[in-house]
Amino acid sequence: MLAVKDLLLVRGKKTILQIDEFKLNQGDRVALIGPNGAGKSTFLKTLALLEKPTAGSVFFRGQLVNNINTLSFRRRMAVVFQEPLLLNTTVYNNVAQGLKFRSVERADIDRRVNYWLKKLGITDLSNRTPLHLSGGEAQRVNLARAFVLEPEVVFLDEPFSALDFPTRVDLLEKLGELLTNTATTALFVTHDFMEIPYLTDNVAVIDGGSVVHRGGVREIMKGSVAIPAVRRLLRPYQKSAMMREYMG
Ligand SMILES: Nc1ncnc2c1ncn2[C@@H]1O[C@H](COP(=O)(O)OP(=O)(O)O)[C@@H](O)[C@H]1O
Ligand SMILES: [Mg+2]
Repeated sequence: MLAVKDLLLVRGKKTILQIDEFKLNQGDRVALIGPNGAGKSTFLKTLALLEKPTAGSVFFRGQLVNNINTLSFRRRMAVVFQEPLLLNTTVYNNVAQGLKFRSVERADIDRRVNYWLKKLGITDLSNRTPLHLSGGEAQRVNLARAFVLEPEVVFLDEPFSALDFPTRVDLLEKLGELLTNTATTALFVTHDFMEIPYLTDNVAVIDGGSVVHRGGVREIMKGSVAIPAVRRLLRPYQKSAMMREYMG
């Protein structure tokens, strides 16, 4: 689905990403985890074709991404950020916006928007403006905006990090269900191991701009991955009773 080869991304004098090879196959759900400043968001944006690498290649379904095809490929993806970036219009219009950009027919827009509002349990909010929504409601709108596009790949950058714990769990469960039902390929950035089992077992660890490990979340939580960056990330969990069952 998406692949990078010999990727290098330099900004100013700083090398932000250096990734020899990375693949996201059709149907994969990968959690991308790493410490602050590791390059998670930059890598997500590079794969979502929102950042242009300094060197190296990005492939979408086997085709080399270039200046000409970037926009058409980007329209087959959706991105969800932590800050909802909602427009000052109704919830309905916020969800409809991407379809209008893609020149989808009015009746089709209406059908799809209503379907996703319902799926996310926000039909009642459809005429509200986003200004006074709770954080959880706003992120439901944000998810509806992404899924209404029926993307081939969805990128999520710490989408629930700002939410309180129960809301976060609700939305993680909801997202897991949506990804399963739609079989959408997904890359989910998080800095919290606890979020991963709701969505996938498939983890990529990024540190200092490079992918240093790929594997299952259970082997990581059990402490059997002897990579310094992974050990550092695990430290806060090792004392947490909540995670003990996972960690064996
Ligand atoms: N446009 C930019 N110019 C210079 N440095 C940047 C730019 N974007 C990101 N960085 C730096 O690159 C590193 C990785 O950033 P980011 O991808 O946001 O990390 P993460 O999401 O893992 O916290 C950080 O050190 C950040 O300060
Ligand atoms: Mg980030």
